[in-house]
Amino acid sequence: MNKENMRYITIALAKGRLAGKTMEVFNRLGINCNEMNDKSTRKLIFVNEEYKLKFFLAKANDVPTYVEYGAADIGFVGKDTIAEEGRKLYEVLDLGFGKCDFCVAGPPEAGALLEKGELIRVATKYPNIAKKYFYDEKHQTVEIIKLNGSIELAPIVGLSEVIADIVETGATLRENGLVVLEKIMPLSARMIVNQVSMKMEKERITKLIQEIKGVIENENA
Ligand code: PRP
Repeated sequence: MNKENMRYITIALAKGRLAGKTMEVFNRLGINCNEMNDKSTRKLIFVNEEYKLKFFLAKANDVPTYVEYGAADIGFVGKDTIAEEGRKLYEVLDLGFGKCDFCVAGPPEAGALLEKGELIRVATKYPNIAKKYFYDEKHQTVEIIKLNGSIELAPIVGLSEVIADIVETGATLRENGLVVLEKIMPLSARMIVNQVSMKMEKERITKLIQEIKGVIENENA
């Protein structure tokens, strides 16, 4: 197809470290967006005319929403966010970076409460993942308390017995006298695709998936 008539493929990136890592992968493919490197820019959309791609940065939680509604054809975001949001979309590729675990954690003595299946309080930024784990998988009744950050505080100040949260290096837990009590699932960055875009732009999107896969496999080789 003549490039002039080619439609833009829009890509949503989760703001932060993950966006940087994702752009490194695109750079390896020769797809650059120099405007994005300008830290002072307030621009929201970055265009690559050569490949007819548009990139935008969004809050991680909103990336699956943009992709489900087709405002973005493709998204790059953590598995934690995908699992929490439960949107209708295709998860097509594990990028292998941003690896961490979703865990139940707390003071060591909270382990006994979990084992006995006592009615405990679980603080988390991810109530849907926590509900699915405790209610559907463990069939354990707990009270889930939604927080927006610094989750490790909750058991320390007595808001909850345990937390359900992301553990990367484990440093935050260690420095606050907390331990991993149960592992819920491994996490990493994923590529997601809108279900209609996958049909309408099958050729371009499939090619992009293959190329990105190639970069990742090369790096891990
Ligand atoms: C995340 C997570 C843990 C911490 C884990 O929080 O919620 O608090 O990182 O990392 P670690 O195992 O390497 O210590 P984030 O820094 O994203 O901020 P938040 O607490 O405001 O959610």
